[in-house]
Amino acid sequence: MPLDGVWLSDEPLWYKDVIIYELHVRAFYDSNADGIGDFEGLIEKLDYLENLGITAIWLLPFYPSPLKDDGYDIANYFGIHPDYGLLRDFKEFIREAHRRGMRIITELVLNHTSERHPWFQMARKAKPGSALRNFYVWSDTPEKYKEARVIFKDFELSNWTWDPETKAYYWHRFFTHQPDLNYDNPLVQKKIMRVINYWLDMGVDGFRLDAVPYLFEREGTNCESLPETHRFLKELRAYLDRNFKNRMLLAEANQWPEDAVTYFGNGDECHMAFHFPLMPRLFMAIWTEDRFPIIDILEQTPPIPDTCHWAFFLRNHDELTLEMVSDEEKDYMYRVYAKDPVARINLGIRRRLAPLLGNNRRKVEIMNILLFSLPGTPIVYYGDEIGMGDNYHLGDRNGVRTPMQWNVDRNAGFSRANPQKLYLPLIIDPEYHYEAVNVENQEKNQASLLWWMRRVIAMRKRFKAFGRGTTEFLFPDNPKVLAFIRQYHNEVILVIINLSRFSQAVELDLSKFSGFQPEDIFSGNKFPPIKDTPYLFTLGHYDYFWFVLKKEEETAPFRKIRHIPHISGNWKTLFMGKTKELAGKGNLTALYENVQILWR
Ligand code: NOJ
Repeated sequence: MPLDGVWLSDEPLWYKDVIIYELHVRAFYDSNADGIGDFEGLIEKLDYLENLGITAIWLLPFYPSPLKDDGYDIANYFGIHPDYGLLRDFKEFIREAHRRGMRIITELVLNHTSERHPWFQMARKAKPGSALRNFYVWSDTPEKYKEARVIFKDFELSNWTWDPETKAYYWHRFFTHQPDLNYDNPLVQKKIMRVINYWLDMGVDGFRLDAVPYLFEREGTNCESLPETHRFLKELRAYLDRNFKNRMLLAEANQWPEDAVTYFGNGDECHMAFHFPLMPRLFMAIWTEDRFPIIDILEQTPPIPDTCHWAFFLRNHDELTLEMVSDEEKDYMYRVYAKDPVARINLGIRRRLAPLLGNNRRKVEIMNILLFSLPGTPIVYYGDEIGMGDNYHLGDRNGVRTPMQWNVDRNAGFSRANPQKLYLPLIIDPEYHYEAVNVENQEKNQASLLWWMRRVIAMRKRFKAFGRGTTEFLFPDNPKVLAFIRQYHNEVILVIINLSRFSQAVELDLSKFSGFQPEDIFSGNKFPPIKDTPYLFTLGHYDYFWFVLKKEEETAPFRKIRHIPHISGNWKTLFMGKTKELAGKGNLTALYENVQILWR
């Protein structure tokens, strides 16, 4: 147990309820003016994340590394890259995050290391056939495992690279500088257990298991998701459960639903797995203005054990991957979302959310509504909450990894360094220029995307049904409208989304909730009670509703709120002065009235 574990609730299923924010420490905030974000900077910005409503942070790799793959090329599993600070800064970061009730998910890059890792250097020098040489996968010929595909197809021609020092080929599923560890070697497994121990002891709450399908290789297979991999994962999970409390494993397995679910095992492998196939289908649904791609893929997704949960995302630090769509769908996606071939990379599109959606605020909103209401834990990619732009002219996937935009100052308030020193240039595309798209501007404008995101996240957190509930799709005649029910015990949420660029009317069969009344979650406004006959809703273009369905007798007499309360600044100010005094005395009615006054 971490010493500071007391800050977090004792909730083994916490990963079902959290809102995850994905960030790279080097991209967030630079505290020492060297042009690179660091842990001290990140700590300074935790209040921002807390105000946004974030309850878990997923940190991209921060370990010592030559940074040829943004840190996924690890040279030492037991340290912090000096650019980002010291181990003590990382510990302080964990403490500060936990103090705010936020969980920390880090990267466990277990499939491969950097070629600079001492294990690889050692393996090169070791005797052929020895345990040390066999830390990695060697072969005299590149003809082995021919059925394994090349993943980074724009950069690599083969999964084998010739090493002149050992006079043998080594195996790598990604870049040539990232040799794959050999999981058939028990020593490798033991070392990785030590890595896990080290970070969990320090207080890390969960691991994203990077590239987990590729741990083992077997002739005559595609070397993905092999039974050996699942056996290893079960051991890993058993070890975790025996030694630690309330920790989580998240599988990065870019696979079809029926293969992805195998990473949950019988609830004895990973707690979570990304739903890769859903993501491109959200983009397809909104382009084709048809709910089919979403419902179809979720219906193809087998049920998962009760203790498991999907992780959903719209964008992340990689290209928008099109590995999990048909060839026809791929062509379509490229045609509509990446007209400029430069925006394409490997099997995907290297763009951020706002530019993909043509900077259409309403599209951005309904994509986020989908993210926050479908049955999985939502992950927000840093910067997408303010609609940051991208620059696909930067190499590799760097165009979606540029510095966070805080304000209009030099370097967007990210760093006080000479602009030429920044780890990547800022976004200066006129449409997304950091002088316009930044946190400070959006803080000041309560109609901004940032404020909208805050409100949606706050509302989602009021209802357990979003994280824990069942999902039932409705099938109204109008295919441009997606409607579904999320239900957890007595809590019933109705979600309706218009995927079309034009207004739509939709009739929903809600007869089984006859006698219930829809209450708009955002305003508290009540809609007419549900009867046995179809219920007619009308929606504007790219519009949405979140209703809570309440039994009529449960709904208190309607008190109209004149406008939705906006709270500028810090929520904590609400509980200062008079309000704090009243709260202390337990005078709830007076407290409520006082808060109302403050809101006005
Ligand atoms: C998956 C990561 O998301 C990606 O960024 C990385 O390049 C590969 N794994 C290889 O480590």
